[in-house]
Amino acid sequence: MNFSNKISDLEKNHLLRSRRIAKSAQGTNMIIDNKDVVNFCSNDYLSLANHPKIKESLIEGIKKYGAGSGASHLVSGHSESHKLLEESLAEFTGQESALLFSSGYSANLGIFSALRDEIQWSIQDKLNHASLIDGSRLIGLPIQRYHHNNLESLANKIKKQSGPGLVVTDNVFSMDGDRANISGIAKIIDKKNITLMQDDAHGFGIFTPIIPDHSIYMATLGKAAGVMGAFVSGDKDFIEFLIQKSRPYTYTTALPASLCHALQKSLELIRQGEQREKLINNIKHFRFISNQLDLSFEESNSAIQPLIIGSSSKALTMSSRLFEEGFFVSAIRPPTVPPKTARLRFTVSANHTFDQIEALLGKVKNAME
Ligand SMILES: Cc1ncc(COP(=O)(O)O)c(C=O)c1O
Repeated sequence: MNFSNKISDLEKNHLLRSRRIAKSAQGTNMIIDNKDVVNFCSNDYLSLANHPKIKESLIEGIKKYGAGSGASHLVSGHSESHKLLEESLAEFTGQESALLFSSGYSANLGIFSALRDEIQWSIQDKLNHASLIDGSRLIGLPIQRYHHNNLESLANKIKKQSGPGLVVTDNVFSMDGDRANISGIAKIIDKKNITLMQDDAHGFGIFTPIIPDHSIYMATLGKAAGVMGAFVSGDKDFIEFLIQKSRPYTYTTALPASLCHALQKSLELIRQGEQREKLINNIKHFRFISNQLDLSFEESNSAIQPLIIGSSSKALTMSSRLFEEGFFVSAIRPPTVPPKTARLRFTVSANHTFDQIEALLGKVKNAME
């Protein structure tokens, strides 16, 4: 196998990925590649990743439970702290039960893995996250996708199916920032043998979840909640079934209990709502200024604000230019997004200031000219 050729091909097509190195905590102001920058590409939407109260809770959790969990949940790794967090997450989402996973990626694979013998098809929104597509592949289902956010396209696809199946959608789309019409989808699939699964990685903690009866809800804890992990919530029997049948749940080490302890503090801060209010004001301000400057951002009222550039090389050049000017915004290229839709994906956080938003968008305007 010649990996060096493969890497040069990626480089030639402006598709080579590289990693910048942070020398500070995650936040709106960071030191990245030894440069002070304002970070506009973090999923730490509520600015909780470096919140003093969460750090204090994490230290408290480490003192009580140690550094690692030592085993998988079904052996000796499941602690009181995991149990209490699962109860809090079930209550927070208004569901009977919840189950923790180490990441959103493994939670999505975990749901599909458990449903291997239960479903005969899955239909997904065209812009769903890679982990949902990989989940479907894991259990050998063909990838069937409906047009993005298009209920008619979904209804047409459903008509062609028989037997039990799953309709799957992101709630907030990770690269576009727009939101699914969860209630509309639920109406269309109002049949006993079709289940709705939603991935709320980018909405959890920001928008009140809409979870139709007997549906499957997945959200992550490393984005707005500021720590790490993910959970699935839903009916008690379904969660019990996941515990029995989900291989990505069974065959992995449990999250450190200390993180679950810290996540209780995240939930408390999310409930308080102060960070959320700051974030919503920042999103509104971002939209207001970008409209004033006539910048053609996609329609989005979430923390994700994409500006489609088209060519990968242009998106990379703009991202580098902004970095030199002190703003970190990543260029998102295919295959993460469809061909010819490379973009700058801006993310707004609670702790950004209006001045930072205005300075950033001024630079973007200049870079577009
Ligand atoms: C929509 C969506 N689902 C799932 C995931 C995976 O979550 P995690 O980062 O916790 O593995 C992501 C990650 O970015 C995502 O955007």
